[in-house]
Amino acid sequence: MNQLELIQRMPKAELHVHIEGTFEPELMFAIAQRNQIEIPYKSVEEVKQAYNFHNLQSFLDIYYAGANVLIVEQDFYDLAMAYFKKCAADHVVHTEMFFDPQTHTDRGVAFATVINGLQRACDDAKAKFGISSHLIMCFLRHLSEEAAFETLQQALPYKDQIIGVGLDSSEVGHPPSKFERVFAQAREEGFLVVAHAGEEGPAEYVWEALDLLKVNRVDHGVRSEEDPKLMQRLIAEKMPLTVCPLSNLKLCVVNDMADHNIRRLLQQGVHVTVNSDDPSYFGGYMNDNFIAIAEALALDNDELKQLAINSFEASFISDEDKQTWVEKIKALN
Ligand code: HPA
Ligand code: ZN
Repeated sequence: MNQLELIQRMPKAELHVHIEGTFEPELMFAIAQRNQIEIPYKSVEEVKQAYNFHNLQSFLDIYYAGANVLIVEQDFYDLAMAYFKKCAADHVVHTEMFFDPQTHTDRGVAFATVINGLQRACDDAKAKFGISSHLIMCFLRHLSEEAAFETLQQALPYKDQIIGVGLDSSEVGHPPSKFERVFAQAREEGFLVVAHAGEEGPAEYVWEALDLLKVNRVDHGVRSEEDPKLMQRLIAEKMPLTVCPLSNLKLCVVNDMADHNIRRLLQQGVHVTVNSDDPSYFGGYMNDNFIAIAEALALDNDELKQLAINSFEASFISDEDKQTWVEKIKALN
């Protein structure tokens, strides 16, 4: 089978996508208009021109501004449903999507509004497309520990709908250790835990995510390669890294896709997966990410299949479901 066909046909799980980062300019305009909110752009073209980021912070400034137009439950539903349509087109059959409650609650939008809109979209995606999903609530790490504790409190009534907590936003200067106590409480409450670490921040932050936050997965983690001892640990523990190739290129974590380390990580036995992060901002959804690395790094079909298999093995679905998807991927040839 040729590679494009294999990429298209493989069932895949997406484990690192921020729902606010799937906000396409067309939908942003439509929602801004119906909510009568001004956005600082005259056209979709002008929005896209603003997307020339050079690091994480320059992206985050625009990403948070875009999220400001989301006000009512239907907005969150429409946002997530648009993403699920992309999943269906890419044969992404399971997603574990991040949402940033503080981005919305700090503007006066109720936690319930956010979660109810997203949950309704998840239910409809299951019914319409057969796509399963879990929600992961992220704490904004540039905000305080106290604010994270408050957010955790707000989430407790929705515990059944939120499988885990994560940590995102500006990494450098906001190490995982800042949230050690919040994550301890989250784990006690039964949440699984993940954290962005080693995207722009150093390998030391990945150690902290493992040792202090006791994460089940590391988001990004590509800078782990700078520390051989950390690499040994990740390999020994089969610790998943949710890698986001187009994101890394767009935010200048790598200067050229040919320099991306995902293939080296895979070959050394690190449990890497492919993800889109903020696809509307970074130039592509799941299959675009697969195509970009397949071409730039000359991945072979077995490597592509291993990446898809890893996505299910690293996911929070049942062992039985993992087995089913893995067998389907292995059977493709
Ligand atoms: N890194 C950190 N925070 C984020 C990201 C990211 O890639 N996307 C959305 N919030
Ligand atoms: Zn991310």
